[in-house]
Amino acid sequence: MASKGLFISFEGSEGCGKSTQIERLSIRFRDSGREVVTLREPGGCPLGEKIRDLLKFDPAGAGMTAEAELLLFAASRAQLVREVIRPALERGAIVLCDRFLDSTTVYQGVARAIAPESVAFVNAFATGGTLPEVTLLLDLDAAEGRRRAACRKGPADRMEQEREEFYEAVRRGYLELAAAESSRIAVIDASGNVDEVGAAIAVTLSERLKGEFHGLL
Ligand code: TMP
Repeated sequence: MASKGLFISFEGSEGCGKSTQIERLSIRFRDSGREVVTLREPGGCPLGEKIRDLLKFDPAGAGMTAEAELLLFAASRAQLVREVIRPALERGAIVLCDRFLDSTTVYQGVARAIAPESVAFVNAFATGGTLPEVTLLLDLDAAEGRRRAACRKGPADRMEQEREEFYEAVRRGYLELAAAESSRIAVIDASGNVDEVGAAIAVTLSERLKGEFHGLL
């Protein structure tokens, strides 16, 4: 049975401005009277937040293999889908998620070079078929994203300590994925200021949202 809600995911590399845009969009949707659930991956539920800490900050993660990393991201997602996302969609809520399965396809599949069929299998198992209606890819030059990310917070976490090539592979991987799945993934130029990017997102969503969600923005 189709869910009553709306699921939108945001993707992009470090520093692309996802969290700011999610915040802005959640206000606009709430103003239109809808329930909005904002989530992040990894995380978004108690177990997921523990896994997030393991993946990003816990010293035990220092020697983490790419395979273990893939499975931990998937474990967080499997829990979030069943504990939070599906119930929210069943209630008719709008779910805005900061990263979802495309992060795994790109970071673990492309940048860490795990075989695409293994990543696809794990993604399918974790999501159990729950997919966003629309995914907004905030595209930004990798070096610029790193500069922005470095300005806004403290010490880099484990995922932010890779070489520049890693983040270039992430950007390339995202753009290739968006080209292959253009009916779901929309590319947004994230090089402008907050208002410009917000306006581009609103235009894209007004073109792509259907049914009762059409015209909500
Ligand atoms: P963030 O919440 O600050 O974006 O941190 C999440 C980090 O984890 C970021 O570096 C991207 C990475 N990541 C993956 O490598 N694979 C995934 O499936 C997800 C959700 C995130």
